[in-house]
Order: sequence, then C-alpha cells, then structure tokens
Amino acid sequence: MTLLIRNLSQIATPTGRGAVRGVAMRTLTVHENAVIVVKDGRFAYVGRESEMPSGLTIERDFDAKGATAIPGFVDSHTHIPFAGFRESEFNRRLQGETYEQIAASGGGIASTVHATRKASESELVENVLARARTMARYGTTTAEAKSGYGLDKECELKQLRAIRTASEASPVRLVPTCLAAHEFPPESRGSEAARHGYVSTILAEILPAVAEEKLAVFCDAFVERGVFTRDQGEAVLRAGSELGMIPRLHADELSDTDGASLAAQLGAASADHLMHISDAGIDALAQSNTVANLLPATSFFLMSDRYAPARTLIDKNAIVSLSTDCNPGSSMTESMQTVVQLATLRMKMTVEESLTAATLNGAYSLRLAEEIGSIEAGKRADFVLLDAPSYLHLVYHFGVNLVSAVFREGKPVLSPEC
Ligand code: NIG
Ligand code: FE
Repeated sequence: MTLLIRNLSQIATPTGRGAVRGVAMRTLTVHENAVIVVKDGRFAYVGRESEMPSGLTIERDFDAKGATAIPGFVDSHTHIPFAGFRESEFNRRLQGETYEQIAASGGGIASTVHATRKASESELVENVLARARTMARYGTTTAEAKSGYGLDKECELKQLRAIRTASEASPVRLVPTCLAAHEFPPESRGSEAARHGYVSTILAEILPAVAEEKLAVFCDAFVERGVFTRDQGEAVLRAGSELGMIPRLHADELSDTDGASLAAQLGAASADHLMHISDAGIDALAQSNTVANLLPATSFFLMSDRYAPARTLIDKNAIVSLSTDCNPGSSMTESMQTVVQLATLRMKMTVEESLTAATLNGAYSLRLAEEIGSIEAGKRADFVLLDAPSYLHLVYHFGVNLVSAVFREGKPVLSPEC
C-alpha cells in the first residue's frame, strides 16, 4: 500500500538513526511545501513532489490541508498501568501540603499501590488503553510504560502483563519497564531488615519472573532520600542487567543522591528527572551515552520552581530527551505538547531542541532510534499532522491540541474505534 500525504505546509524533523546531543539538537530538517510517501508502513520518500522517484505508484492520496508534519512523539517515561486517582491529594497540595508530607501520611505512591493491587488485570488493561488513546490524540506514537504500583511479585507481573495485552489494541507502541524498585511496599516499611527483605525479593523473585516471561525491556529504580539507597538501586539495576533488562534510573528528583553519576556509570539508557542533579552529575551525563530524560510537567504539577538544568546539560553536550512522567501523583498528563511547552517556556530549551528531545532522543533512550523518531526514508512511518503553518506553533499556540491526524506505521490511528 503506497500513500501520498500532500498539501503539507512544512515537515519538521530531527535527522539520524542515533541520538542528537548538545548544540546539534537545534538543527531540524525543515521541508517547505513537501510531500510524504509511505509504502508498507515506512517512509518511502520525503521531499518535493516534483522530485518524487518515478517508481513510486501512489495508491492513496491524503490531503493534509496545509498541516505541518512532525515525527510522532516518543514519551520515554510513563507510569500508566495504575488504578485509582489521587485528586484529593492534589487538592491537599493546593492547600500547601507537600508531596513528601502526603507520602509520609500514608498517601502518595502507597495509595496507588493499594488501588492497583485491588484491580484486576483486565481493569489495568482498560486503564492502559484509555491512557494510550489520550496519548495518541495528543500526538504520541510510542510510550514507555512502567510497573511499580504492584510492589510484590504477583502484582508487578499483573501490571506488566496488562501492558503486554494492551499493546495488541493500543494506538501507541508500548515499551515495558519493570519498576519493582519504585517504593517499599507497605508490608516492608517497618524496619531496616524488612526493607532489605524487599530488595532481596526483587533480586531473587520479581526480576527473574519478569525475565522468564520476557515482560520488560527495561528495569528502573527510584533512588531517593527515604526510598531506595544508591547501593540498593545499583544492586537492582545490575541484577536486571544480568537478566537482559536495560537499566534506566529515577535520579536526583527530590534530592541529590548522586543518581545521575550512578546511571552513567552503569551505562543506563536514561537518568530521569534530575531536578537536583549536581555539577558532577551533569558532567557524568555529558560524557556518557546515558540520556538525561527531563520531565518538566512534574515540576509544574508539584508547583515547584525547580526544573532540571536543561540549558546546562545541552550546553555541556549531554543527550536530552523529554517525557510526561504520566502518573496519578506527580504528573497527571498524557500530553507531550504540554511537556514541549514547559520545556521551552520554563527550562529555556529552544523549540527545535524540544522537538528533537521529544522524538528522536526519546527513541534513542528506548533503543528504537534506528526505526522511529524522525521523518526519514526507511524509518517506520510514525508521524503527526499539526493544524499549524509551522512547527513553531507547537509552543507559540499553547494550551490547545494542535493534532489533526496521527499515523503509526502509515496507518491513521485516530479513527472512532481508537
Ligand atoms: O516519577 N518518582 C517516583 N515516581 C513518580 C511518582 C509516582 C506517584 O506519585 O505515584 C514520579 O514522579
Ligand atoms: Fe517517574
């Protein structure tokens, strides 16, 4: 099947099959008045209609009506397999309580663990699908999805199986991560020995079971003051690695725990959050291939003035990506458009850097940059049409949904059944 997308105002995309780092993140390839040809789910041609190779026999024609095409967003950090919401905790935060105070009083991650443990696998499948459909409506075509609200073997497996089942019907490609080391489960919080016991359970039981069923590509841990220590996080990620899961790390989110350096040292795919990263951590990431995955919607939603130092990371030549962190506590959004707006308006990234970070660099951190993340001949045809004359509208025309069509592997995904 060969499809021609014509009448595009612009095609704006980063280029390449790997990460783009530092100052190069500012360079987009921008085609004016160009067309896209998709053949068998992949981009076959991108450029002027007059220069289209003669061998391409067009079978279908799509009038983009002056839209701008960008690559589908790659959201490389989400916690979407959860049950229950936390809007009343959110309301408490609006009255002045902090995220950490709410967690200490029994709310926070623990309340989502309670609801997720009670939910059936099929309820979780429906929840993942509902969020994936919202993501698609806002332009995401690939999303990472973490477990981490089960915190015992059975419920971590339940979350990961739900991601696998949802993948079959999801408009968004889902990439699973085991985050058994997200928090200590309520039954293991009583003593140091109990906490140690849960880490042993992750190493000896949960990760081997996840590997056995091939339920996760990545393994993650939340290294944070009051949660997992650096050593515990390291032990979990090393064990995951030995079982074939690539490490990622929640690092330096609420305090500096030297997490970024640990991620770089382990060759992790990403170090995520980084609001409290140290200068040494910035240097470690800048000299590594570990992606600095920044989640500005989390700072925004936690009403913090502290954002990750995106400018310094880019200026020092790190690989930077952007993600939603979609979760019921600290970032209840599926919208990568919002994330791109916050990245530019609050972290001072340029629109070009933000688009590169939200597409190709996210794909790189998911080990998918050879296949997705840019609009280039040969790659899978994941792209979005924006109701806008140029890509700059992504930030300029903020707070609305600019997406008019979404294609994954050349197929429209916004039909009514999606
Ligand atoms: O990425 N940092 C830990 N986990 C989430 C929050 C999860 C929750 O509050 O439910 C985060 O911000
Ligand atoms: Fe997170």
